[in-house]
Amino acid sequence: MKLNLPNQRSSRGAGPSIGPLITVTEDRVFALGNSVFSYVFRVSAEGVLEHLYYGATLGAASDAPRHDRRVFQHVAINFDNQPNYNLNNICLEYPGAGRSDYRQSGLKVRNATGSGIVSLRYHSHRIVSEKPDLDDLPSSRGGDCETLIVTLVDEEFGLEIDLLYTVYRDYGVLARSARITNKGVGDVRLQDAASSVLDCPVGDYELLHLHGTWACEFNTERMRMPSGRFSINSTRGASSFAHHPFLALMEEGAGETHGAVFGTALVYSGNFKISAEKGEFGGVRVITSLSTPEFEWRLNPGETFQTPEALHVFSSGGLRRMSRFWHEFVRDKISPPAFRLKPRPTYLNSWESAYFDIDESKVLSLADCAKQVGVDMLVVDDGWFEGRTTNATSLGDWTGDKKRFPSGIPALAGLVREKGLKFGLWIEPEMISEASELYRAHPDWVLCAPGSTPSKARNQFILDLSRQEIADHVFNSVDALLSCGRIDYIKWDMNRPMSEVGSSAFPPEQQGEIAHRYMLGLYSVLRRLSDAYPDIIFENCASGGNRFDLGMLRYMPQAWISDMADPIGRLPIINGASLIYPLDVTSAYVPPSPNHQNGRATSIATRFLAGAFCAGRGLSLNADDIAADFDELSHWMTWARDTAPDFVGGEFTRIFFTDNEVCWQYSERSGARIYVVYFQILSGVNKPFARARLADVDPDSVYTLTETGERFRGDALMLSGVPLPYFPNRLDDDGLLYLEHGDFASCLLTFEKYKK
Ligand code: GLA
Repeated sequence: MKLNLPNQRSSRGAGPSIGPLITVTEDRVFALGNSVFSYVFRVSAEGVLEHLYYGATLGAASDAPRHDRRVFQHVAINFDNQPNYNLNNICLEYPGAGRSDYRQSGLKVRNATGSGIVSLRYHSHRIVSEKPDLDDLPSSRGGDCETLIVTLVDEEFGLEIDLLYTVYRDYGVLARSARITNKGVGDVRLQDAASSVLDCPVGDYELLHLHGTWACEFNTERMRMPSGRFSINSTRGASSFAHHPFLALMEEGAGETHGAVFGTALVYSGNFKISAEKGEFGGVRVITSLSTPEFEWRLNPGETFQTPEALHVFSSGGLRRMSRFWHEFVRDKISPPAFRLKPRPTYLNSWESAYFDIDESKVLSLADCAKQVGVDMLVVDDGWFEGRTTNATSLGDWTGDKKRFPSGIPALAGLVREKGLKFGLWIEPEMISEASELYRAHPDWVLCAPGSTPSKARNQFILDLSRQEIADHVFNSVDALLSCGRIDYIKWDMNRPMSEVGSSAFPPEQQGEIAHRYMLGLYSVLRRLSDAYPDIIFENCASGGNRFDLGMLRYMPQAWISDMADPIGRLPIINGASLIYPLDVTSAYVPPSPNHQNGRATSIATRFLAGAFCAGRGLSLNADDIAADFDELSHWMTWARDTAPDFVGGEFTRIFFTDNEVCWQYSERSGARIYVVYFQILSGVNKPFARARLADVDPDSVYTLTETGERFRGDALMLSGVPLPYFPNRLDDDGLLYLEHGDFASCLLTFEKYKK
């Protein structure tokens, strides 16, 4: 069955919604929304929250049709023994458990009697014209918004559940979370606590999610929504590259530019679960939570558990519009505001040029190369601290190696800065090596379940950040480094997943809490550091994209998307990540060729252009590599420096992505310049001529393609499209643009708005 959708206005630029964002009728219909979506639910006569509608803006949202009570169902259970009131075929807002709804519930708890039957009924509500911060967790920032807090109660358990819904006037995002408070006399065990439940009515849906592995993140997978349950999760203690905490439920056949899409993402960096369940009556329930089978939380009387925040986006204009909504929101409401429109420095990173073979004189000579080739910052990536000549040692001992860095890191940073460069440093502060002073002093600081032997990965253990004193130690050791005032950038790495999760500091019944307590500890460290050092660019990394998520982004404006530095390998990674993330939050560098990850040889242009639309652009090459291609590298680094202001706050668009060809557009935020990159993976002869039909160009303006001097009207660029360069079998000097020879070719087109 096709979903029947009215047209949705295109973006927040479409005009503000006037009046309240949340209304409540006398018969308790809650209508939330703005000019791009409506979200409606109501309280039934039994006190159950019934979900009524989520989609394009309704003229009179509170008139959304109610559920009917069906009389013909055989074997249906009557909830509360009300005739024909069966929860199993109703869309619900936050379902309890064990009472006539057989789909997955929002809350799973057990009390001392062993009962897990949860009946959640409306108690009260209030609306506030702000967005409350979530206790100890990252969440989107407020602004022009309203928050509805609906309180539900379960009288038998003595539980009180606050459901929080924030609607912004100018963004197509609905933010949700839940607070569970134990108002009873005995403790309860929380086994699952959804951030949000989204019940979509019967329809034919497809699912889209992002999965991957090391150096291969953000693969897009799309499938028909089957009957039964599909779920993605992480039990690795990090959101992980295996499954990204994002899921889109799509109207069957929806595409890049058409069709309904419901996108869901979690603002959290640890274990999670997002499931989609098609029940027996064809509706689909999407549940977003931090819970995994290992999760359990003891909630003592009087205590509250705050779930992470789930974000929802509805688009009736396919994936492209969904991405626009995410991008605007992530940039404005998640990522640290100080960096929103801040051009990022270009950089030379030491990792793929030197690995662990690094010392003070090498850093200084790399700094000279960096200066000559025209980059802004030198980053010492690993290998700089006491004894760190391999990955088997020294994590935890965050002082410069005395033999290889005799001046010490603050003095070295000063020397680099005297050359007119910024200075950046790699750290991995959540980790501990067995061969370290820190381990010798505190072997018991390793994250490990009581009675287990911790496993190493990349030769290292994880510090138990669920313990306050260890989180404080991590803060203090990073603070000691940064307090010299000469560090402009930090690459914060995390190179192993968790295993044997548990903590000797907690009793047996709280071992299921440790993975989440670790995240709370980590977030507290990040909050303190980003408050103390608001001007430092923190770049989040976890062996590439193993913890690339909205939670980390709240504290760190930039993230290293993948260790896959080969440009062809990186194309699908950037394309997949762009479903949610604006490229303002990513960085990329020109790596050596042949590539160290997959051995592929590519041109400098292709290596640069694959990451050209990321905010942070640079090189990871040694002095010889730089000397060999100096002019070309200098050309691109100058281009990157000159265009740095354009690559924050603009609009990224996926024009097309096929097995062999990729085309992306980036529009500078004022619309004065539009950049297009085009990649042809394998060359061929006599191929059809490709065209790029650009998006959201001013139709009445004229644009000059600066590479050739040709002029195009904006409407033609969108409707007819610009012919893309190709590799000809005869090269004429005719002023046209051609693709470079051979495989892995790429080119850049720059359109300048023509001023008469
Ligand atoms: C991880 C990162 C790399 C690099 C190394 C250093 O693998 O993803 O970019 O920083 O650590 O050890």
